Amino acid sequence: MAAAVGAAVAGPALLDAPAVGQTTARHAPPPLPEDPFTLGVASGDPLHNGVMLWTRLAPEPTVDGGGMPPHPYRVRWEVATDETMSRVVRRGASPADAAHAHSVHVDVRGLRPDRPYWYRFRVGDHLSPIARTRTAPAPYQRRLTLDFGLVGCQRYTSGYYTAYDDLAAADVDLVVHSGDYIYETGGNSVRSDPLPESITLDQYRNRHALYRTDAALQAAHATAPWVFTWDDHEVENNYTGLVPEVGSSTPDPAAFVARRAAGYRAYWEHMPMRGPAPTGPDLRIHRRIRWGRLADFLVLDTRQFRTDQTCGTNDVGGRCDAAFDPATQVLGTEQERWLSRGLRTSTADWAVLAQQVVFSQFAFVPGNPGIYNLDQWDGYPAARQRVLDMLAADRPHDTVVLTGDIHASFVSDLKADYDDPASATLGAEFVGTSISSDGSALNAVVPLILANNPHVRYANAQKRGWVKHTVRPHEWRADYRLVDDVSVMGAPVSTATSWVLPRGGQLESA
Ligand SMILES: [Fe+2]
Repeated sequence: MAAAVGAAVAGPALLDAPAVGQTTARHAPPPLPEDPFTLGVASGDPLHNGVMLWTRLAPEPTVDGGGMPPHPYRVRWEVATDETMSRVVRRGASPADAAHAHSVHVDVRGLRPDRPYWYRFRVGDHLSPIARTRTAPAPYQRRLTLDFGLVGCQRYTSGYYTAYDDLAAADVDLVVHSGDYIYETGGNSVRSDPLPESITLDQYRNRHALYRTDAALQAAHATAPWVFTWDDHEVENNYTGLVPEVGSSTPDPAAFVARRAAGYRAYWEHMPMRGPAPTGPDLRIHRRIRWGRLADFLVLDTRQFRTDQTCGTNDVGGRCDAAFDPATQVLGTEQERWLSRGLRTSTADWAVLAQQVVFSQFAFVPGNPGIYNLDQWDGYPAARQRVLDMLAADRPHDTVVLTGDIHASFVSDLKADYDDPASATLGAEFVGTSISSDGSALNAVVPLILANNPHVRYANAQKRGWVKHTVRPHEWRADYRLVDDVSVMGAPVSTATSWVLPRGGQLESA
């Protein structure tokens, strides 16, 4: 299924459109008696003249095939300049077929820069909710402020998505998701996820669908376009490249290749991703999203092209000599070259690396071998230094790294050399905590991280939440919005700490 490119306004409005079956009765798919929009709608990857729209037809979300008949459907969509959908500026129809889990991807173009739009879908008599999205500023447009939310790590069983309710009420322009959109396993904790471990395509689809039934997650998608990347749990914990984790349910190499293909395919089917669906185990997700002259988001993939963790564990341990081998890779050669080119050619005020795993050095015990989390960039010091050297050469004053993965909040100086506290500060790293995933394992090491890493300015593993970023040409502000208790529905959310990074300056607690 090719993503449909949006046409100018033509044809009947959604409310006047003929229901499925009225126009081509002989070939029409059967009507859908139940609401197929149970997963909500979403938008993403804004351009200055367009945005991706997404939905998926799934009247029975966690049943194989989403409870849809196997027939192809056409789903009508429209984009308006007002929230009542009275001033429609683009409309069209896009295919939804069983081979793509009846997902709908619309690459709408011809929109104006830097303004909100509203959109909705229709199939048969069913109308989706109306949601808001936004286009990016024009490439050289000066825009004084960007408000965006950093989110990630949303294990369904670990708690309620109260953070997403708070985000949805915050009126942000954009949401950046750092990965772990789903977790491949279920369980019973705060909430029940009764699905079996995701290994097959149907199993990944059903898990994405379960997560998408959450009303707060749907509300967060409906408030702004998302820019997203994956981490490990969209396939399997701590996998690297085509290497499964130690103790994997799919240790056989061929089985893991098939599993990664299923995980990536289901991810594509459930996100407003631009470009065709993957047909094998590879899917490019690294890309640049420009926000006028204010910020260039370089969205990274630190999983797909990574070399395996080298030191006998893919978790916490000592760093062996092999970790320093220049041949070790986090991004892979091609993505590293792409990043270098992106940093060199970016003219935006801020360069933003939107990625997954902690970039700054977090020595639990310093030195070598020391003790580090080897699944983070700490396990690949040579690869990290190559990126730091690029930053020092091309963006020495204004880089921000956005990170997820470890379910705890950290604010760190980005250092040209982590073993030399006197080395240049290149910017900052903001590690968002998790939306819901448990972070208690880190409580024990937070004092060690603070004691042994002078560049780490703030650490809190106690609470879940999201980070509100306010970006201006000369100042970056991060407000950590933390939830009192994700096991209590609707628990209070408050700003736990705020940090300001003047462009070219040093982080300050606000
Ligand atoms: Fe996570």
